[in-house]
Amino acid sequence: MSRYILGVTGASGAIYATRTAMHLKKLGHHVTALVTSPGCEVVAYEGQESLYDYCDELPGVNDFFAECASGSADYAGMVVVPCSMGTLGRMAAGTSDNLLVRSADVCLKERRPLIVVPREMPYNLIHLENMERLTRAGAVVIAASPQFYSKPTTMEELVDTVVAKILKHLGEETKIVEPWKKVDV
Ligand SMILES: Cc1cc2nc3c(=O)[nH]c(=O)nc-3n(C[C@H](O)[C@H](O)[C@H](O)COP(=O)(O)O)c2cc1C
Repeated sequence: MSRYILGVTGASGAIYATRTAMHLKKLGHHVTALVTSPGCEVVAYEGQESLYDYCDELPGVNDFFAECASGSADYAGMVVVPCSMGTLGRMAAGTSDNLLVRSADVCLKERRPLIVVPREMPYNLIHLENMERLTRAGAVVIAASPQFYSKPTTMEELVDTVVAKILKHLGEETKIVEPWKKVDV
């Protein structure tokens, strides 16, 4: 059992957070969710309140006394999904001005996995530069771009093609999506 931090922002795509939390729980892990205030609103607006059923801990996003604010706590890594351009910018600038951004900063300084899943289109230069900066600092940026070659038939299956990639980069072995095999066309 590992402890993971799940950062949820006010970007669209709350279902990505729900499915990530659900699969982490299925794998037997502990999930600490940090949801920004816009994140709470978008989770409700997109009908994803079931996210909270998969969270073991839900510290307030301004509770800097929470364990994940400190590098001494034993977290295995963090995913920010979906990641707004606002939070992306704050993480890239190292502002640490809420618990989500502080926890991401801690992951980078402790050289722990930080997966960032931005959701916006199109990107402006500021977004792209922030992604570059985070990548240089050690984060892995995974676009919320699902794949279609596994022929998903439901929204959950489609979303899981992104979640499988997130989990892979956390070092978690799953069979959510079968690996690509050569086919005759
Ligand atoms: C329904 C809805 C969808 C949104 N989708 C996005 C989005 O996909 N990407 C984004 O960067 N911001 C999006 N926003 C705007 C963010 O919620 C807003 O910039 C907010 O300040 C982000 O704050 P946070 O990073 O603290 O969560 C959306 C807002 C609403 C109300």
